[in-house]
Amino acid sequence: MRQFLVVGHDAPTAPDFSLDDIAGGAGRLDVLCRCVNSAFFLSHDLREDVQVHLVLADEYTVSFDGAALRRLNPDERSTAALIRGALEEKQEAIGHQPVETSPGVSLYRMGVEATFDRVARDATVVQLHENGEPLVDAEPPEDPLFVLSDHHDFADGEADLLDGKADRRVRVGPKRLHADHTITVAHNYLDTDGYREY
Ligand SMILES: C[S@@+](CC[C@H](N)C(=O)[O-])C[C@H]1O[C@@H](n2cnc3c(N)ncnc32)[C@H](O)[C@@H]1O
Repeated sequence: MRQFLVVGHDAPTAPDFSLDDIAGGAGRLDVLCRCVNSAFFLSHDLREDVQVHLVLADEYTVSFDGAALRRLNPDERSTAALIRGALEEKQEAIGHQPVETSPGVSLYRMGVEATFDRVARDATVVQLHENGEPLVDAEPPEDPLFVLSDHHDFADGEADLLDGKADRRVRVGPKRLHADHTITVAHNYLDTDGYREY
């Protein structure tokens, strides 16, 4: 299982945004939608062994489970619609009990730390960071949880949490990439067993 936890700082927590304005009225929900696309889509196929957890402004988390996903399409707008649909049912997420709002899509009333604790069990936690160790120096882990930030830096509290709990902090290359592109590189690293099998 490959998991990606994306910390969305500039993300909506209410469903009152227009699908025509996901890079404005909805903060930078477009960034998070592209992360979902990169994590799941192959050409004409979907990775079933992937889960993505989008933390929305440290309040809610929308989790996507590739094994159960049914209505995910490659365009950002329809992904944003799934997230909006999840937020429309946020009253049903009571305590830490999630609500499944579409097949394979669940909303949790959890911020970064609670989500991290929920999904990090049994995973090798890999923080993706521009200043980390070279990815190529690390053996590909069996069940990685990659943690990355949106278009902002990790906040101080998030950085402290990861400093204490991440097994590794790696960079995928010398350039600072968009979050979704970083996911593509991480997948390629695992797909090739650390650039050894093509
Ligand atoms: C667009 S970058 C964040 C922006 C950057 N921290 C800034 O404020 O200028 C989005 C995220 O992608 C990941 N990322 C980007 N480039 C990376 C690299 N070369 N290696 C590993 N992770 C990277 C990090 O998790 C980063 O927080």
